[in-house]
Amino acid sequence: MKKKIFNIAIVAMAALFLFGCGKKEDVKEEAKEAAKEAVKFEIKTTGPTLDAIKQKGKIVLGTSADFPPMEWTSFQNGKEEFTGIDIAIAKAIADSLGVELEVKNMAFEGLLASLNAGDVDIVLAGMGADDERKKQVDFSDEYSKGAQVLLVTEENKDKYKTFDDLKGKVIGTQLGSLQQKFATEKFGDNCKGFDLNNVIIEQLKNKSIDAAFLSELPAKQFASITDGLVIIDNLGIPDESGFAVAIKKGNDDLTKAVNEVVKGLKDSGQVDKWFDEYIELSNKEASK
Ligand code: ARG
Repeated sequence: MKKKIFNIAIVAMAALFLFGCGKKEDVKEEAKEAAKEAVKFEIKTTGPTLDAIKQKGKIVLGTSADFPPMEWTSFQNGKEEFTGIDIAIAKAIADSLGVELEVKNMAFEGLLASLNAGDVDIVLAGMGADDERKKQVDFSDEYSKGAQVLLVTEENKDKYKTFDDLKGKVIGTQLGSLQQKFATEKFGDNCKGFDLNNVIIEQLKNKSIDAAFLSELPAKQFASITDGLVIIDNLGIPDESGFAVAIKKGNDDLTKAVNEVVKGLKDSGQVDKWFDEYIELSNKEASK
């Protein structure tokens, strides 16, 4: 199995090399191919939730596709498409179970309620597996470390040097995010919650808020695709919890199976590879 994964990795790397100088469509195709190829893990686990998923022939992913490179929405020939690292991992889980992947895009804040209501089977949304959430749902092993940073407009890049400088400032965060909780506790009630990260970025650009507070990777992504925005990461803000797949409590066979896939993807280096690829892809799509 290891050898096979290794071979697949070589083929994928060769494809990357070949298409490395190609157009953005090629990068997109290549990312898709790599997603298809690198996910042939055999799941050894069985159980009632897995049986039910296999019976319906699909696994339903809940996500909030406003968080590049983890997940974002793009329009291909007028059709809405969801792309990103989380989508690739979810597709790997679906492939390993031999079922289709259905993506339900919704507000981040509602994701865990949808999971517990049975509207979706798994949630991947750059979601930190923190202790509060662990009371409501189970999580797989983490597939990424979480860090969090502030995003400000260029002219304010030297304005905030300590936590105290942020007190009373209007800081935009996503509703239901760990950043919303942290910011409200540390910086006060002026913090403003928004449903969508794109809206936070718009608000920052037109100076309706002083700073945006986001997970590091998406913050970097937004900074790289938006003129005039910069990251501040020297305030000593602690890391958020690492990202993991959320699963309804009691669906232990599914959690076990997901962990087998996550482990395979991590051990083979595929997760790291997807990070590189999807960062590049979302940069290219944004510069279209
Ligand atoms: N990492 C943060 C959290 O777990 C924010 C995640 C937001 N995700 C998204 N897809 N919009 O709370």
